[in-house]
Amino acid sequence: MSEPKPRSLLSVSDISARELSGMLERMKSLKPAIRRREPLTDLRGRMVGLLFEKPSTRTRTSFEVATARLGGFPVYLASDELQSSRGEPVKDTARILGGYLDVIVGRVYSHSTLVEMAEHSGVPVLNGLSDLEHPTQVISDLFTIAETKGKLRGLTLAFIGDGGNVCNSLLLGASLVGMNMVAACPPGYTPDEEVLRRAEENARRSGCTVRVVDDPKEAAVDSDVVYTDVWVSMGEEKETKKRLRAFRGFQVNSETLKLASKDAVVMHCLPAHRGLEITDDVIEGKQSVVWTQGENKLYGAAVALGFVTS
Ligand code: CP
Ligand code: NVA
Repeated sequence: MSEPKPRSLLSVSDISARELSGMLERMKSLKPAIRRREPLTDLRGRMVGLLFEKPSTRTRTSFEVATARLGGFPVYLASDELQSSRGEPVKDTARILGGYLDVIVGRVYSHSTLVEMAEHSGVPVLNGLSDLEHPTQVISDLFTIAETKGKLRGLTLAFIGDGGNVCNSLLLGASLVGMNMVAACPPGYTPDEEVLRRAEENARRSGCTVRVVDDPKEAAVDSDVVYTDVWVSMGEEKETKKRLRAFRGFQVNSETLKLASKDAVVMHCLPAHRGLEITDDVIEGKQSVVWTQGENKLYGAAVALGFVTS
């Protein structure tokens, strides 16, 4: 008989509202403990593999550091140094790595690679960003919003820009915690339809709204959080010219903030391109919580690792 499959975290949809609120609660105590450099043992003796097909500053480092701070051992695996770069199938790589490691954090081009790894590795797989979602980003972002605004339920998040991986996970996360979300995206760059359908279902249950519009001003009006992401994601470099044209008018700037509620906070998953999706004065301005948001990815990584290993 085959062993039951361990629990992976490939999408925000893999977490229930209750589990998400438990993770946010746990981050409240983990943050000061990790900042005080307290010796933690949640991952004692666990080997955490980080298989990355794309570059990363924050996700890679936060997962490596979180693993070590929780008493585990990180193993970084650059995909171009693995035999998969010479054609070894994903399922073979997954079966072998699963025999050595206790968790695999994967950053991949195609979401289906993560699904295949979860299917064959026999260990939990954590999505460290795919073309479809960036769930661990959003777990820590929700924590940042709760920390700075004191609540989540009833707030309104305006996402302005590309309806890609980060926007998809935000739609699922916001709707799970009862936070309204309006995504303003140019035609052709709207969120994944299945994600939107699930987010609408979550929103009906939690009593909030999710909307997709094509006017950034409409999204910004009275919002409590203004969030943006890059216009050209990793793997989309060939579309740069077309995208820069399509996203003109979707910049988060001082005009955007005039429309938002006066104590609105500005967020960006980073890396940021000043002068494109966000202006320098806004990312460096007093409403920006971007740097706290970046730090909080460390505690998000820690709770995500705890979620799949407990
Ligand atoms: N926000 C984020 O995922 O950043 P990195 O690409 O640096 O990991
Ligand atoms: N949408 C961006 C997020 C980077 C953290 C990308 O996929 O490149």
